[in-house]
Amino acid sequence: MRVVVAGSSGLIGTALVSSLRSDGHDVVRLVRRPTAAPDEARWNPERGQVPAAALRGADAVVNLCGVGIGDARWSGAYKQLIRDSRITSTDVLATAVADVGVPVLANASAVGYYGDRGSRVVTEATSPGTDFLATTCLDWERATTPASAAGTRTVLLRSGLVLSPRGGALGRLRGLYSVGLGGRLGDGRQYFPWIALEDHVDAVKFALTHDDIEGPVNLTGPAPVTNAEFTAALARAVHRPAPWVVPGFALTAVLGEFARIGLLAGQRAIPEVLEAAGFQFRRNTIGEALGSVLTR
Ligand SMILES: NC(=O)c1ccc[n+]([C@@H]2O[C@H](COP(=O)([O-])OP(=O)(O)OC[C@H]3O[C@@H](n4cnc5c(N)ncnc54)[C@H](OP(=O)(O)O)[C@@H]3O)[C@@H](O)[C@H]2O)c1
Repeated sequence: MRVVVAGSSGLIGTALVSSLRSDGHDVVRLVRRPTAAPDEARWNPERGQVPAAALRGADAVVNLCGVGIGDARWSGAYKQLIRDSRITSTDVLATAVADVGVPVLANASAVGYYGDRGSRVVTEATSPGTDFLATTCLDWERATTPASAAGTRTVLLRSGLVLSPRGGALGRLRGLYSVGLGGRLGDGRQYFPWIALEDHVDAVKFALTHDDIEGPVNLTGPAPVTNAEFTAALARAVHRPAPWVVPGFALTAVLGEFARIGLLAGQRAIPEVLEAAGFQFRRNTIGEALGSVLTR
């Protein structure tokens, strides 16, 4: 396959590009800076510029763009950037995909689409939430419409918390837990729908090659856990206690709206579409996932 990847320098993109290449696929990376290697093509999502030549002949486009939702306090300007970096890039890319006639678009989204669902099981058929992340995800997914309307098989990657030792939330938490500073967030009953990075990468590749997969796909492990269960599993994995409880009000006072929506709320999301299509997870439980990613 020839696969064009946008947002390829990030946690998921780096692993996906490397995995696609080791499978023998040809990968072109869309970069927002001047190109520095023959496999790169420059695009400018803010100006609506995508090099059609890079997309011509591609079997699939994967879009993983977006500033980190936990990388800064959610000021009005940062919330706008969270939205724009996802929705504008998706709109520009989906329009180019439609113009060129690329057969498949796999576009990032997140389980935040569902809003806070307490302990209710969430599948791809569950309706969207109404908070900031949910409405952002809804508009982000809608921005793929030019591609789906043009007949491109469009897959919406509703990712859970991606577990990797090299970055993302676990990369940050690991240091705290290793020195015994881990702890539950709020009452710990909110669900953390996790997925091991290697399973996430495999699931994206699976979606690219399975014509029966279209629309929303939960990229979450088969057994989501609560924050309290996640805390206990991570403490076990690093052989340290995690005795602390970070009260919800304190977390919200320090981190603002991100804490309320991103850390103290959750989704018990299950991968119904992937499992129905026959996808096999390598890491089925939080213990297996943490055990494998933290020994690397
Ligand atoms: N990791 C998770 O746990 C998780 C969970 C749910 C959803 N997701 C979603 O999956 C996607 C990839 O996640 P990730 O963890 O790999 O993210 P990441 O490490 O933060 O990488 C995202 C990539 O987005 C691009 N980007 C950054 N700022 C941008 C901007 N202003 N405009 C356009 N593109 C920009 C960058 O790629 P270039 O510099 O190469 O353009 C960056 O490498 C994101 O959309 C994220 O929201 C991730």
